[in-house]
Amino acid sequence: MKSPHIVVLSGAGISAESGLDTFRGAGGLWEGYNVYDVATPEAWDENPELVLRFYNMRRRDVRAARPNAAHAALVDLERHFEVTIITQNIDDLHERAGSSKVIHLHGEILKARSTIRTDLLVDLGDRDIEMGDLCPRGGQLRPHVVWFGELVPEVYRAAKVAETADILIVVGTSLAVYPAAGLVPAASKASAVYVVNPEIPESVNRPGYHLIRKTACSGLPELVRELIDGSPSA
Ligand code: APR
Repeated sequence: MKSPHIVVLSGAGISAESGLDTFRGAGGLWEGYNVYDVATPEAWDENPELVLRFYNMRRRDVRAARPNAAHAALVDLERHFEVTIITQNIDDLHERAGSSKVIHLHGEILKARSTIRTDLLVDLGDRDIEMGDLCPRGGQLRPHVVWFGELVPEVYRAAKVAETADILIVVGTSLAVYPAAGLVPAASKASAVYVVNPEIPESVNRPGYHLIRKTACSGLPELVRELIDGSPSA
């Protein structure tokens, strides 16, 4: 029998217990910065040094963070089901935990991209990005992240994946931004939708959805255990 396809839509809340800040948790500030001063094309045009410095700090935070029990639970899930993770997170904690299919809707902070060829990506390894760091074609490098107001190229692939979900798990996201929020209705064929979040977002507070008002590290391992125990291969 074909294994059910479980699609997981994750957001900043799944990495919160690894010590990485959420976006809308601290009075609208992201690590003390107004996001519009550091995460928009306008910010880059006005003050690229500040933007690079900000993302260099975030990159160091990501490297120092470790995957947590919620990331690990999704790796267990993969041993029993077909699992695809669509994450809004720019960290690599899903991959470092061991998940194999991860779509990054908003980019990846450990990569840089050329400002003259958006498809030219550079793995940063343990490096920062500084002004004057150029792609092989001579364009300044910038973080490979989607800023407010920019297109989200991965959304087409993500929407196709969401449409094939037999089960949808929404964890650690406020669903405050589109097109990510649109992936929940796109999963219209899913026979069950689970939401793991201590504060259930209004848009998914719906009859029929399984609402788990817990943190990712407490709610997700429990949910994964239940799904595995109820699976035909358990
Ligand atoms: N476990 C689970 N959920 C948590 C936890 C936790 N330990 N801590 C906080 N949360 C929840 C909050 O209740 C909130 O609903 O995580 C959510 C975090 O929401 P946001 O900060 O808005 O993050 P996210 O939904 O990922 O933001 C989406 O917006 O700013 C842009 O591009 C950025 O990818 C980001 C996108």
